[in-house]
Amino acid sequence: MSITVKVRVPGTTANCGPGFDAVGIACTIYSELELFLSDEGTLRIEIEGEGKGRIPTDSNNIIYQAVQAVLDRVGKHYQGIYLKLYNKIPLARGLGSSAAAIVGGLIAANHATGNTLTQEEIFSMATIIEGHPDNVAPAIFGGITISVMQDTQPVHLRFMPEKMLNMVVAIPEFNLSTHTARQVLPDTITMKDAVFNISRVALLIGALCKGEFHHLQYALEDKVHQPYRQELVPGMQQVFDAAVAKGAYGAALSGAGPCLIAFTDSNCDRIGKAMVQAFSKCDVKAEYISLSIDIEGAKVIE
Ligand code: HSE
Repeated sequence: MSITVKVRVPGTTANCGPGFDAVGIACTIYSELELFLSDEGTLRIEIEGEGKGRIPTDSNNIIYQAVQAVLDRVGKHYQGIYLKLYNKIPLARGLGSSAAAIVGGLIAANHATGNTLTQEEIFSMATIIEGHPDNVAPAIFGGITISVMQDTQPVHLRFMPEKMLNMVVAIPEFNLSTHTARQVLPDTITMKDAVFNISRVALLIGALCKGEFHHLQYALEDKVHQPYRQELVPGMQQVFDAAVAKGAYGAALSGAGPCLIAFTDSNCDRIGKAMVQAFSKCDVKAEYISLSIDIEGAKVIE
């Protein structure tokens, strides 16, 4: 017996300034995964696009591990597992490539084995594998998500803004692992910094919900992670300033970086070129892409 499933999963931008480990947005950049399960054969993994030649193609592959986690959970075994990834999400740049890989593996395996797991169970499994919920929630549910850990269980709320919002992402050519980007963070922060972030993340969610994007200039400010990660992304403040000078509402580090993301409803090219130029002035080669919010989240396409 053999089964084939194809899923499409969006990339994501997490944190969105002050919403460290809590806020995420699904973006219109995708990874497509084909899963083939058979009673005969072995493990075979092929990668096309971003990550070709870099992503492991053996049992260390995170998609395979996600597929296997579902098979173990539902008590199924397949001798032959074939995975083919067509990936457009840059790796280790803060656009949720590993969350998309994990979510793709979980959803494809769940669909292939009769959809016995709910979306919430998939969310919980993905959070355990990824380590935090803020990238996996938008990858699964689409839109803008707020995630909270309630003991060991992730809880989420998803919404779409009243008006559409575009995102211009400046992608520097260097990688930054989330592990490295978390190592520079302090163990504790001051009450003053906590209040700074609490007030801004509240403003951020209100502004996004209501489409009052002019608030983003202040609502994207952060004192919990960005100031510490600045040393890892040369030119970060200059790129933010360049984006705002060309009309962006505001800008932030995308996830753990190193991508920088500006929020706007117009002038994407003008903003993107200015961001790339500001990076270049700091000797960082970069390119930019313009994205909008993915509404659907992960879905089975075949
Ligand atoms: N919230 C995470 C971080 C996002 O900033 O470290 C990366 O997964």
